[in-house]
Amino acid sequence: MLSSGKIFGKMDNDDIIKNIEEKYKDLNQDPNMYLKGLYHSKPVNYWEYIEVETLLSLQKPKTDFPDESIFIMYHQVTELLLKLITHEIKQVIDNPGIKTPVFKDKMERVNRYAGVLTASFSVMREGMDYEQYNQFRLALAPASGFQSAQFRFLEIYCTNLHLLTNTRVKEKMEAVTDIDTLFDQLYWKDAGVNPQTGKKSLMLQQFEDKYIDALKTAAHKYRGKTILNRFLALDQNDAEVQELRHALREFDHTYNVIWPLAHIKTAAYYLNSKGENKAATGGSEWQKYLHPSYQKRIFFPQLWTAEEKENWGK
Ligand code: HEM
Repeated sequence: MLSSGKIFGKMDNDDIIKNIEEKYKDLNQDPNMYLKGLYHSKPVNYWEYIEVETLLSLQKPKTDFPDESIFIMYHQVTELLLKLITHEIKQVIDNPGIKTPVFKDKMERVNRYAGVLTASFSVMREGMDYEQYNQFRLALAPASGFQSAQFRFLEIYCTNLHLLTNTRVKEKMEAVTDIDTLFDQLYWKDAGVNPQTGKKSLMLQQFEDKYIDALKTAAHKYRGKTILNRFLALDQNDAEVQELRHALREFDHTYNVIWPLAHIKTAAYYLNSKGENKAATGGSEWQKYLHPSYQKRIFFPQLWTAEEKENWGK
């Protein structure tokens, strides 16, 4: 058996060497060679292990405005936090036998990360010069945070696809199983499809060209295995399930109400604080679209009362 994940207790050197020998014998390898290799291997250092130099070389502004670097780095921080959230969520959905306390522990970790995301959004709202932002953003069209794939994958991992369709058709979509039909009605299409002509914006077209196949593959793979499905399969009378329920509600509210409100307030500050109603880089009708009460993106509707759902984001 591979030793990955094996937790060693107190052990003397002879026992450790015995374990190493067993590991490589099981793999049909000569342990002697690996032990000599270990002797030659260099001690770890921080900068190589964390890949600090690579990480710090990933900021490539398009303009000379110093605050553009803040914009890039904060988006990168967000992508890393989304990766941390995904890391926990994947361990739940990929493990049908997960025990409730472990599930709860994972969701509490997720809530910590989502809390960092919301608490830190002031880096955008207060942390950039208004004039600089409104200049460097002109060089970024049609790119938009809308094109964050992790954001969309997470939705698919968390809930059932029909719950991600737009509010006009959501009820009707409950009975639909065809993934292509459901994808045509996803709420986020509202940001990029012209309702009169049906034409897609460049922001949406670019995004779909790159990610739609992978998103559909994920939707097939996790149908019936999402965080919502895993939760509903548990015995709802169990006291630990009640604690998990609490953690899931917190995530739904933080991620789908608090974060979007912090985000839309920031957009309103830079794009509309003087009533100028500037076009977004991605070209959406953002004042309507970005509001949580318009999107009604609720991952776990079974955990909310009718009134709470009615007042979502208000
Ligand atoms: C000054 C800061 C920001 C402004 C003014 C802003 C503005 C906007 C606007 C107007 C949209 C609508 C799409 C469009 O037409 O472009 C959008 C979408 C989006 N942005 Fe931002 N944004 C900011 C920062 C961020 C950050 C830091 C992230 C983190 C990755 C982010 C993630 C997103 C996401 C995920 C969407 C799609 C939301 C959805 O579909 O519900 N934004 N943003």
